[in-house]
Amino acid sequence: VFNTVPQAPPDVIFSLTAGYKADTDPNKVNVGVGAFRTDDLKPYVLPVVKKADTILFNNADLDHEYLPIAGTPSYTKAAARLILGENSPAIHENRVAAVQTISGTGSIHTGATFLSQFYKKSKKCYISKPTWANHRNVFALVGFEVEEYPYWNGEKRGLDYEAMLNTMREAPEGSIFILHACAHNPTGVDPTREQWQGIAEVMSEKHHFPFFDCAYQGFASGDLDNDAWAVRYFVEQGFELFVAQSFAKNFGLYGERAGNLTIVTKSSEETKRVFSQMEKLQRSEISNPPAYGSRIVDIVLNDPALYAEWKENLKYMSNRIIEMRKALFERLTALGTPGTWNHITDQIGMFSFTGLTASQVKVLKEKYHIYMTDNGRISMAGLSTKNIDYFAKAVDDVVRN
Ligand code: LMR
Repeated sequence: VFNTVPQAPPDVIFSLTAGYKADTDPNKVNVGVGAFRTDDLKPYVLPVVKKADTILFNNADLDHEYLPIAGTPSYTKAAARLILGENSPAIHENRVAAVQTISGTGSIHTGATFLSQFYKKSKKCYISKPTWANHRNVFALVGFEVEEYPYWNGEKRGLDYEAMLNTMREAPEGSIFILHACAHNPTGVDPTREQWQGIAEVMSEKHHFPFFDCAYQGFASGDLDNDAWAVRYFVEQGFELFVAQSFAKNFGLYGERAGNLTIVTKSSEETKRVFSQMEKLQRSEISNPPAYGSRIVDIVLNDPALYAEWKENLKYMSNRIIEMRKALFERLTALGTPGTWNHITDQIGMFSFTGLTASQVKVLKEKYHIYMTDNGRISMAGLSTKNIDYFAKAVDDVVRN
C-alpha cells in the first residue's frame, strides 16, 4: 500500500528547532523559529496570561464540554473587533462572521478550503515572494494554482512596490491575493500607508480578493490599532475579505492554537449563508475548536483592565525586539562589517531579513552553531544581551570570508 509514498522534505522552520535542540555546543543560537524569548532566552508566559489562567481555574463552573462548532461567540466577536476596530462599519452593518480556528494555519486552511468550494472567479492564488512557507502548502493542498507576486527587492533591501503592483495588474481578474496585515514574514518590510492605498486601488480595479494573514497584531509597532490599519482601510474601501488571525505570538499561546477567521461580506444576509457553510466545513474538519487558548484570549479581550495590561505586555515584547535591532546594527557598524545594515533597524516585527546568503547561513550553522532559515531570515527574539556579541562577530566573519 505504501511502497510508492515518496519521502517528504523536512519542514524548513521546525527542522531548525530540532537541529538546535540536538546541538550540544554551549554557544548555540536559535534565530530560526519565530517565537518570543526573554533576555535570558527563555519562553515568555505573559503576566496577563497568568492572571487569566488564575481566573479560569478558579471558576467553579469550568467544565470540559464541547464548544460550539464555530467557537465561543464572545471570543470570535472580540477577535473580529480587535482586527476590524470597535467602530467598524462592517460590524455595525452585521456584515462580519467569525469562526474560531486552530491558530493562524487553521484559519488560513479553513478560509482556503471554503474558497476552493465557493470562490468561482479564479483558481489562482498569489503569495508574496518570499513568504511564510506554509502559505504555499495550504493553498496548494486545497487545489489552488499558487503564483508569486514580487515583494522583496534584494538590491534595495526593501519593498519591490512597482513590480508588486504590475503583477497585481497583470493577474487574471478576481485572483486571490494573500497579504500580510503587518510585520511581513519573512522580510519585516511592510508597505507604507500610501502604498497600501495604491495596492487597494489596483486590487479593486481588478476585483481581486484580499486574504489577509495577521499573525503579528501588536508586534509590528506595539500598537494594536496601527497594526490593523491596512485591514481596516480595505474594509472602508468596500472590499469583501478574509482575515486569518493568530494569537500565538501576541499572547504567547504558541502551543494552544488559538486563532480566528474574520470574514467581511457585502450584506448581513450573505454573512449568514457564508457562516452556515463555514460551520458545515468546520464540523467535517475539526468538529469544534479546542477550548483552552481561546478561553484565555476571551477573558483578556473582554476585560478592560486585563486588556490594558495585555497592551503593556505587548509593548515589552515589541520593545525588546526593537532594542535587539539597534544592538545588532550598532555592533555590525562598530565591527565595520562590509555592506549596509540599516535595513535591520528599518524592518519591523519578529523577523529581520538580513540579506545573508544560503552559503553564509550554512557556515553560520556549521562553524558557529547559529540556526536560521536558508533565506537569511532571523527571529530577532532569539537574540539577547547574552548572545548578541557572539552573533554579530559570527556574521562579521561569514560576510568577510
Ligand atoms: C515562523 O514563521 O517561524 C512561525 O510562524 C512558526 C511557524 O509556524 O512557522
